[in-house]
Amino acid sequence: MVKPRIFVTRRWPAAVEQTLAERFDTVLNTGDKPLSAEQFRTALSSYDAVLPTVTDNLCSQAMDVPKLRTKILANYGVGYSHIDAETAVRHNITVTNTPDVLSQCTADLAMTLLLMVARRAGEGVLEIHKNAWTGWRPTHLVGAKVSGKTLGVIGYGRIGQEMAKRAHHGFDMKIIVQNRSRIAPEVLARCNATQVDTIEQLMPLCDFVSLHCPGGASNRHMIRTAQLELMKPAAFLINTARGEIINEHDLAQALWFETISGAALDVFDGEPNIAPKLLDCKNLVMLPHLGSATRETREAMGFRVLDNLTDFFSGLSPRDRVL
Ligand code: DGY
Repeated sequence: MVKPRIFVTRRWPAAVEQTLAERFDTVLNTGDKPLSAEQFRTALSSYDAVLPTVTDNLCSQAMDVPKLRTKILANYGVGYSHIDAETAVRHNITVTNTPDVLSQCTADLAMTLLLMVARRAGEGVLEIHKNAWTGWRPTHLVGAKVSGKTLGVIGYGRIGQEMAKRAHHGFDMKIIVQNRSRIAPEVLARCNATQVDTIEQLMPLCDFVSLHCPGGASNRHMIRTAQLELMKPAAFLINTARGEIINEHDLAQALWFETISGAALDVFDGEPNIAPKLLDCKNLVMLPHLGSATRETREAMGFRVLDNLTDFFSGLSPRDRVL
């Protein structure tokens, strides 16, 4: 039987690339550079499946192909706001993602960021590297206590729930949740969490706010001056979801004028470019989109894509079909 032709847009963990090559007629983007719209159009007219990830901008223009061969975009990652949903549906392309397998590691990283910004760990590392540490003193790099404080979780899906679990059971934190739909009482009960209806209700109640909702046009700039102004002056904002959720200009203003105490970001609007105004904020911790970056998780994400492809080409509905 002829193997489906598949194209992988970035380099993946070696173990997954090897299995992909065994099961499919696989072509890798050995240069590991994001593709242009033109290169996407070529890929979509030449391969049965394209395996994109967050760095691929699959806008309608990149999918504007007269004779489309691709039947499935098997995304490597849980978020898929980089794929134009309406165009994919119009072209009858199936889209899958990789939920579950990255929830724990992404929540671990959100907790890392929360601790780093509260305890000024980034500033401490920098001080040592600059050889600027003059020794212990009672007033040196004094941060904010984390244990026992209140955490607001915006978006209570798998990753938000993992974050709440760490904060509540590990750090004794009180959990307040905002989510588009109602969360089942038994799910809230796992972390003794309380659900509120709006972000505006959540903000003033929290010492830390962590974002775990999807990105995309509908959530673009969901957090801007109006919401930031509702946070306590001593509060911190953490984002491991998608950069576009926050208006970065408004966040930089809030950090600069200290209307909030600090922020920690793993994702950026227009990444990997970082808005210069963010670079000037010393109460901001930044990491280069490392949420799912562990060997175990990156392999599990790849094997999850493999399962989705195998199901699809066997005529079954892939377990992680999102479109
Ligand atoms: C995800 O899975 O959404 C990660 O952010 C990488 O895309």
